[in-house]
Amino acid sequence: MTDKEIIDRIQYLKKEKNAVILAHYYTRPEIQDIADYLGDSLGLSQEVAKTDADIIVFCGVHFMAETAAIISPNKKVLIPARFAGCSLAESITGYDLREWKKANPAGVVVSYVNTTAEVKAWTDICCTSANALQVVESIPSDKKILFVPDKNLGAWIMKKTGREMELWAGDCCVHERITTEMVLEKSKEYPDADILIHPESNCSHDDRILNLPQAYMYSTAGMVKHAAKSPKKQFIIATELGTIHKLQKDSPNKEFILIYPQTICGQMKKVTLQNTLEALEKEQYVVEIAEDIREKALKPIERMLEIC
Ligand code: 13P
Ligand code: SF4
Repeated sequence: MTDKEIIDRIQYLKKEKNAVILAHYYTRPEIQDIADYLGDSLGLSQEVAKTDADIIVFCGVHFMAETAAIISPNKKVLIPARFAGCSLAESITGYDLREWKKANPAGVVVSYVNTTAEVKAWTDICCTSANALQVVESIPSDKKILFVPDKNLGAWIMKKTGREMELWAGDCCVHERITTEMVLEKSKEYPDADILIHPESNCSHDDRILNLPQAYMYSTAGMVKHAAKSPKKQFIIATELGTIHKLQKDSPNKEFILIYPQTICGQMKKVTLQNTLEALEKEQYVVEIAEDIREKALKPIERMLEIC
């Protein structure tokens, strides 16, 4: 089948089965183009909470599809790339959190949404890169906080809020490669460009970056909004490659410079037109979560969604 035939068939099956396709900005351009909703982790969770489709085809990695299944137990959530994982989600287990809670019974666990359902089940409140500051600021100041699993996002929040937190030592294998030196070098090369940086990046909490007037820390959706409304013509993009597709589509006359050519999430790229079609045709792979875990994992997500 040609790509055009695959896309036509996907559109047909979507209508027939009352399905919706949700995709993250890091997926391949052709997947972004067939999505009913394209967004960052926060936007995707909010969209799941309000869709009335019977089937959600989640074009992203496993923890994202799992989050959709936690929020929407009465819908069939399908993940086309069954083994698309995430280095952050894999860096921590429910057992780790259970042990921390035993040692810190009054402590609060804040989990980045890039975690498994089992980890969310031991979490007090979730956050995404778009709302992490608000979430941490909502926690009473006398509470001890464990922030998991992204050490860079956690360190950035500590710098911004002045709040001490215990940080888990996980990282995103893509953003961890984005260093201060890289950003400083690129900003010399493009002195008129705004620099849009994802807080998962290794450099996000370095004062040399935080003091750069042209540097902004954003979730992927934040970058998209900033670039669309800014009068600037050039932007250095310090996040995963896929985001550039949306940025360029919204602003065809602006220039987007990727910080480093290897900022590619191979897991997100596992989602293809072919496996998205197969997902719809065969209704595979259904994301399943034990009901007792799902109920517990829902609470920290709901607390997050109440805040923003
Ligand atoms: P956001 O979607 O919150 O920008 O996070 C990026 C990410 O790494 C998702 O896997
Ligand atoms: Fe995980 Fe990083 Fe890939 Fe996002 S970009 S899915 S955090 S490995």
